[in-house]
Amino acid sequence: MYSEPGKTKFQIDLRRHLREQDICENLIHVICEIAEACKYVINAVRTGDLGVAGTSNLYGEEQLALDVLSDRILKKRLIHTGVVCNIASEEMDEIYQAQAAADGLYSVAYDPLDGSSLVDVNLAVGTIVSIYKGSDLLQPGRNQVAAMYVLYGPRVSLVYSVGKGVYEFTLNQLMEFTLTRENVTMKPAGDIYSPGGLRNKYTPENEKFIRFLEDKGCKLRYSGGFVPDINQVLMKGKGIFMYPALQGSPKGKLRLLFELNPMAYLIEQAGGAASNGVIDILDIQPESLDHRAPVYIGCRDDVEKAKDFLNNKV
Ligand code: AHG
Ligand code: MN
Ligand code: MN
Ligand code: MN
Repeated sequence: MYSEPGKTKFQIDLRRHLREQDICENLIHVICEIAEACKYVINAVRTGDLGVAGTSNLYGEEQLALDVLSDRILKKRLIHTGVVCNIASEEMDEIYQAQAAADGLYSVAYDPLDGSSLVDVNLAVGTIVSIYKGSDLLQPGRNQVAAMYVLYGPRVSLVYSVGKGVYEFTLNQLMEFTLTRENVTMKPAGDIYSPGGLRNKYTPENEKFIRFLEDKGCKLRYSGGFVPDINQVLMKGKGIFMYPALQGSPKGKLRLLFELNPMAYLIEQAGGAASNGVIDILDIQPESLDHRAPVYIGCRDDVEKAKDFLNNKV
């Protein structure tokens, strides 16, 4: 359900909503500080330098100035919370220890600007965040205590879950995030598919699955930005996003800690599913910070069907 902007019957802002989730103040503080930081990220995206930074990240990918700037904005804000122990970023080579492990602290993994290469052509981009209790960031995504993303589109929307459902907030004219959707829930199956990667590198099993989706009349919706592409499947409550293993890259492209775990947490909280084709994304034991995995994420039945094709059960 969505209330029209300006006339929303919800004036609930993010902090008040988090308080109603009965979670600890430190976690509320971390989530609200990330939300504040993202207001500066959107400003950087709208006004910042679109060029390259002249450096590369732990995946060996060229970094844009906006990747580095958005990373600095988030990292600085998290350090200043005083309740964050370890920080991992798609744009940092190793884990940064903001303070020694202690009770009541959280650790955060984030992709500061997903889809950064789309900014220069003015497509929607986002920030993706995964939060754990304690100091260990290399644990299965099932152990996250919260996940969120901020989507910089025509609206700036923030979607979060602390394990009690999925909620959407929209940045209003006063630069406050106010509630616009509650208890977001996905249907069992849908009519959208979002196929990442080069189709001429698809394996026969994945190609057969795509044909199946097309034959049943599914619509192709792919922007190349993980956050808007997932947001579409989540908010319409239907469909499947996939970035499969490709010929030449058996692990696919997307990063487990910074992209797949947080999105899988949110999608599962909305009643959907996320798999690498064999096991749930949230049950994968990360081997390293730069762990990548193939992904099928969206409606439960669609993900199951993908696994059937992958395992030649159809
Ligand atoms: P990032 O900008 O953080 O490096 O991530 C880009 C990712 C993700 O946004 C999207 O799903 C995927 O790249 C698209 O990859 P292709 O360009 O290969 O389709
Ligand atoms: Mn990304
Ligand atoms: Mn990124
Ligand atoms: Mn990148």
